[in-house]
Amino acid sequence: MQYKCCNHILGSIDLSFSGFKYCNEVWEGPEYIHYNVENAFQKNEERRLKIIGEMKNGIIPEKCKQCPMLEEKDWKEFDGKIHKVTIFNWKHCNASCFYCSVGSDYYDGVKKSDDYDSLPIIQKLIEEGRLNSESFIAFMGGEPTMLEEFPHILKLLLTKNCRIEVLTNGIKYEHIISEMLKAENYNTICISLDCGCRETYKRIKRVDKFDEVIETIKKYVLDSKDKSKRIKLKYIIFPNVNDSKKEIDKFFEICKNIGIKTVARAVNHHESKMDTTKNQAIETTVIKAYTYFEKQAKKLGFELQKEPWADAIIENKVYNCRKISPLTRLKSELHFLLKKFAKHYIYKVSNFLFAFEQANISTLD
Ligand SMILES: C[S@@+](CC[C@H](N)C(=O)[O-])C[C@H]1O[C@@H](n2cnc3c(N)ncnc32)[C@H](O)[C@@H]1O
Ligand code: SF4
Repeated sequence: MQYKCCNHILGSIDLSFSGFKYCNEVWEGPEYIHYNVENAFQKNEERRLKIIGEMKNGIIPEKCKQCPMLEEKDWKEFDGKIHKVTIFNWKHCNASCFYCSVGSDYYDGVKKSDDYDSLPIIQKLIEEGRLNSESFIAFMGGEPTMLEEFPHILKLLLTKNCRIEVLTNGIKYEHIISEMLKAENYNTICISLDCGCRETYKRIKRVDKFDEVIETIKKYVLDSKDKSKRIKLKYIIFPNVNDSKKEIDKFFEICKNIGIKTVARAVNHHESKMDTTKNQAIETTVIKAYTYFEKQAKKLGFELQKEPWADAIIENKVYNCRKISPLTRLKSELHFLLKKFAKHYIYKVSNFLFAFEQANISTLD
């Protein structure tokens, strides 16, 4: 049937810290139904069906109206199949990255009391035949390897041949991840290394675990043999922390030495508790480092994973990956223009002062 709808409504689920929603679009979409609400998961599914019905009649929920995912086309009838599940229902972690959008404090694997279990939900979806080899399951978190039920969920998903991606800091090696990498389906892991040396690692992650991470990556590469393309190393660029060419070069050196084939780059998506950058112009050094990273990846023969939201930040020159207003766009352009002028005039003034000083010196002579 031809109507305005989106892929999320027709088969996505977010298992988030706060509860459930039928949409994985990070920046837009419906409210979460809190997991404490009675039959919260079921209520989310009922809400999905109701909205599909409304959309067929041209009624679009207010929060969806600006969403780029919304599309008018001949949609297949919803058959209950879930094609994307994003799991991030816990916050505990064994690192404490200064930028972390989860706001994870250093829990070192101790489960927070207000988390819920996602295992029964995955079990239920499998029993009901709603997950199959076409379903994509992404583990985010918190740190997945710190989640007690993580190996059990992964094992279950492997029986259904789901396509899985695990985002991990790589501090703890997990055997089931190696199994997952060897499976037929194109399963992947993305390890956020963000640097090229131990010192920078400590500054960013606030734990001294650089060597452990390198060892974990080596094991995954060894375990997955010819499938090592499935192991991605990620680098989020931060001003004055890891935006130098030297640091990026060291990162690529590591990738080369341990047999990594795929890399990813990103910038701050500003949800962090440390964030002071919302709607602010992105630093020139970060833009330069972003370009340099791509150039080096190409030159050295690495596959570069695309991050459209990060590309959008770089293109808009503003730390905001939603669609920006013309006014914000103008402000960011002015910011860069003024910076350029300021640089030009500071240079001119300093040249003048220098010449003036020289002239004075020669007069004194
Ligand atoms: C919250 S982490 C959890 C997974 C795992 N602990 C890790 O560090 O990869 C999920 C993803 O969000 C990314 N992330 C966290 N904070 C971010 C920020 N402020 N800007 C951009 N990406 C961020 C991480 O790099 C990671 O790929
Ligand atoms: S390792 Fe991941 S979850 Fe842990 S603090 Fe860093 S970004 Fe957050």
